[in-house]
Amino acid sequence: MIGTDESMILYIRLFKTRKLIIPLLIIIILLSSFVIFQSINNYFDSIKQSNAYLQRQTPKLNSSFIQRAILIFYPSNQESHFLPEIRWLYRSWIEMMKYESKNWRTDLIIYTGEYSSSFQQLGCIINQKRLNNTERPQCRIFLYLRISKREISSLTQQQTILTHNGKKDLFNINIQRSILLYKKLKIYDYIDSVNIIAESYSTFEYYDFILKTDIDVFITSQFAKYVPLSNATLLVGRGGYSTQFNTRRLGRIARDMNWNYQNLTNVGSTWYGAPYVAQRIANIALDAMLYLYDNEFTSVEREKKLGVLLWPDWHYGVLSMYGTHLAVNHLSISEKLDIKKADELLDQSTTNKDSYDLEKNNRLHLHCWHTDKQFSKFQFKAGKYNDIHPRTLINDTSAQAYAMRMALESRLMTLDELGQYVHRISNNKTK
Ligand SMILES: *[C@@H]1O[C@H](CO)[C@@H](O)[C@H](O)[C@H]1NC(C)=O
Ligand SMILES: *[C@@H]1O[C@H](CO)[C@@H](O)[C@H](O)[C@H]1NC(C)=O
Ligand SMILES: *[C@@H]1O[C@H](CO)[C@@H](O)[C@H](O)[C@H]1NC(C)=O
Ligand SMILES: *[C@@H]1O[C@H](CO)[C@@H](O)[C@H](O)[C@H]1NC(C)=O
Ligand SMILES: *[C@@H]1O[C@H](CO)[C@@H](O)[C@H](O)[C@H]1NC(C)=O
Repeated sequence: MIGTDESMILYIRLFKTRKLIIPLLIIIILLSSFVIFQSINNYFDSIKQSNAYLQRQTPKLNSSFIQRAILIFYPSNQESHFLPEIRWLYRSWIEMMKYESKNWRTDLIIYTGEYSSSFQQLGCIINQKRLNNTERPQCRIFLYLRISKREISSLTQQQTILTHNGKKDLFNINIQRSILLYKKLKIYDYIDSVNIIAESYSTFEYYDFILKTDIDVFITSQFAKYVPLSNATLLVGRGGYSTQFNTRRLGRIARDMNWNYQNLTNVGSTWYGAPYVAQRIANIALDAMLYLYDNEFTSVEREKKLGVLLWPDWHYGVLSMYGTHLAVNHLSISEKLDIKKADELLDQSTTNKDSYDLEKNNRLHLHCWHTDKQFSKFQFKAGKYNDIHPRTLINDTSAQAYAMRMALESRLMTLDELGQYVHRISNNKTK
């Protein structure tokens, strides 16, 4: 009968819908608890990272003689561009030392081509390694000839590897690789900030921990209170280059090279930890960069004719990131190096307005991102913040205000005053 058939169909339809509703509800519940779990998870990421990767200042740690150094490369021919950044980094280094144990030492080490009058005024000493635990914290200049200046004589085929007053025993230069780097990567901007770590191990081997970083950064007072969990650990900061495409592609390249790979992505250019581990990463990263140059980029890409067309999937401008990516993924397996991603602790934003964020989430280090939002290094250098008096920021504990105050104060102080400030702080340490 037709009626029965129709009700049958209706019944079946209802039954089908009901059968669908229950799994649907289950899916919705699962999804929403997943979303809640994820957001809680993100919220606790920074706390997880600080608990898992860092040792906090304790009376016992305070009483040990911990030696640290901040390492940067400074291009000496672009002073008007980079000196403001040196000033604010220097100012924040002082601020950090106010909260550091008297027994700890944190040097600021700058690899650069010239012992310019600016560095002399800042009180930096030249070509002197730290020799003991008690010497006051110092700004140290090591004269370093950048790759693009390492000309090869057409007569002798010899490469110049040192600056005029450079000291050979401070460096361990692999000449063959130095020549390759000159021939292939001399116009690549970021080669030197990796190369200093590979070549000048003897200048920083002494330290328990190093912070290898860029110039456009701020050291926070939290940095005074935390060191990596062990002297074999190295924390890497936040990078922003990974996509599914390049993660897979770099995995394929690692297979081609017979290297290990473990899908560790977005490895940043700031590293905080064991000098030995940093030096291994830098050495292997340079080899990887030369390999990528030869095998994975066309000359059109290398000559920047594509601009940013292929970003973020595959972009020559971040070659040093890809090199580091391959090195870190390989070494953490092949040499069992203890490398951890601390993307909530290092390379943090200078635009965060939350007044509890720096302290609560243990941000150790701020890095200027490409932004016009306050604090922006572009706006600062364009003089857009010159009307702000740094004293008005003194009670604001946000990352944004901290960066702004450090930068503005460093601008208002002379280089001599900054140098004397370090001297005062370090006098406290020698008592
Ligand atoms: C460690 O030393 C610093 C600087 O002297 C001090 O402010 C801090 O309270 C000390 N921390 C501990 C846990 O003793
Ligand atoms: C530590 O090194 C500095 C600089 O090299 C030196 O002046 C000082 O005398 C040394 N201190 C000790 C205790 O050896
Ligand atoms: C790391 O610390 C351990 C124990 O404190 C020590 O035995 C070892 O020599 C240290 N290693 C390095 C590379 O400093
Ligand atoms: C890396 O990711 C790829 C693709 O998602 C996966 O097939 C591979 O098993 C992963 N490798 C490791 C070591 O996790
Ligand atoms: C900062 O706080 C102190 C103490 O609460 C107060 O005396 C001072 O006026 C404040 N300064 C500014 C610029 O807000």
